[in-house]
Amino acid sequence: MFVGIDLGTSGVRALLIDASQRVIGAKEAAVDTARPHSGWSEQLQSGWITATKAVFADLKADHPAEVAAIQGIGVSGHMHGANLLDKNGTPLRPCMMWNDTRSATQAAKLDATDQVRDLSGNIVFPGFTAPKVAWVAENEPDIFARTAKVLLPKDFLNFWLTGIFASDMSDSAGTSWLDVGARDWSDTLLDASGMRRDQMPDLFEGSDAIGTVRDDIAAELGLPKGVIVAAGAGDNAAAACGIGALNDGDGFVSLGTSGVLLTGRDAYAPKPASAVHTFCHAIPNRWYQMGVILAATDSLNWLSRNLQETPANLTKLLGDNISGPGTMRFLPYLSGERTPHNDATMRGAFLNIDIDAGHAALTQAVLEGVSFALRDNLEALKSTGANLQSLIAIGGGSQSPYWVELIATLLNLPISLPKAGEFGAALGAARLAICATTGADPEVVMTRPEIATTVSPRSDLRDSYEAAYADFVKLYPGIKALTQ
Ligand code: XUL
Repeated sequence: MFVGIDLGTSGVRALLIDASQRVIGAKEAAVDTARPHSGWSEQLQSGWITATKAVFADLKADHPAEVAAIQGIGVSGHMHGANLLDKNGTPLRPCMMWNDTRSATQAAKLDATDQVRDLSGNIVFPGFTAPKVAWVAENEPDIFARTAKVLLPKDFLNFWLTGIFASDMSDSAGTSWLDVGARDWSDTLLDASGMRRDQMPDLFEGSDAIGTVRDDIAAELGLPKGVIVAAGAGDNAAAACGIGALNDGDGFVSLGTSGVLLTGRDAYAPKPASAVHTFCHAIPNRWYQMGVILAATDSLNWLSRNLQETPANLTKLLGDNISGPGTMRFLPYLSGERTPHNDATMRGAFLNIDIDAGHAALTQAVLEGVSFALRDNLEALKSTGANLQSLIAIGGGSQSPYWVELIATLLNLPISLPKAGEFGAALGAARLAICATTGADPEVVMTRPEIATTVSPRSDLRDSYEAAYADFVKLYPGIKALTQ
């Protein structure tokens, strides 16, 4: 038996599977986020532990024999969070999360520092770890002075489980301290933000074992002694493991709060200026690249809140098939944008609103705006040499057939929808646990999910959507110049 734990932004999910990857059970427990000031986003590490204990207790209540037979645990988690620990391993403050943007000034300064983009392979985005720690150095100097270790969110859970300071390459790649090509901490990058190597955890590949669960924790969770803990992965790399996207051209489009267009890469091919994220994969000698947009279903949720109609009812108004672009345009930059604009201050816009426009037209414009932004991401990925061949759609938005057909047409790529079941980050984490415990080859363990249906691009409508996309591309510089 193996468990995958996904420390998500809204809660912890535990997935129990057997050696043949049959799902035995899944449990979830919520985690609260505090937003004490505009742009701040924090979670208490104790909340993660409480939620993790709760999911194990729930799994044990339903499956006592299987929980007692667990051999390996893998943990995935939201990336980039900064957990500052004192010399006893006690958190000095709450975790500053991936969507905490208070350190935009520190990020811009680090990003402009010599060699930082070259070595880290990425822009230093405000959500990344290094600028957040730089913010602490400037604003909470006592805490910074007492910081003995900095851990990423899932690494904090692994530390609680094992007592070991460890991280994996995929998550560490999002700190701006890792030489992503060399898969090692970079002293130059650490120096640039006043950090030292001894403040970093030891590095492992995600599919490696870092150690075993401490006896006291095992007793508390109802686990046998000696359960292996994998190094695990950042949530996007774990999701890629969950759908078997390991190699060049294998990818997914994720329509969640944020939108992600991801592809596996056999070689390291960074291009920071494109605002594409180039990170290590969770298995050795592989990387992945992704474009990230900050408001995918978040844009639809925003519209739904304001029209007081559920997202599902809004998308239903459009039917299941696309019939050509609307004339209204929506810029989905409600929280700023990462790829391709790297712009924390830009905000959204509706343009060309007709007197007859109602719920359907507004919804169509929002879905199109998000899809055009994903097309921007495809162009950014292509500029790095990435060659996406096919995509699997994941996330809540993939339940809209209209939206999936729209994205397939705009990206000119077939999009497959997996059969109902488990294929997310928790499965990826459980698969890493299998590799770490048994030594199995990740290529054999991390297979593609069974596909329910594949949606093809609509060749009859390609030209009209292409023309609409060409218009969309002109809007960002124009609106930016007018509003900022
Ligand atoms: C990736 C990113 C998010 C978080 C939260 O760069 O910021 O996907 O990992 O899920």
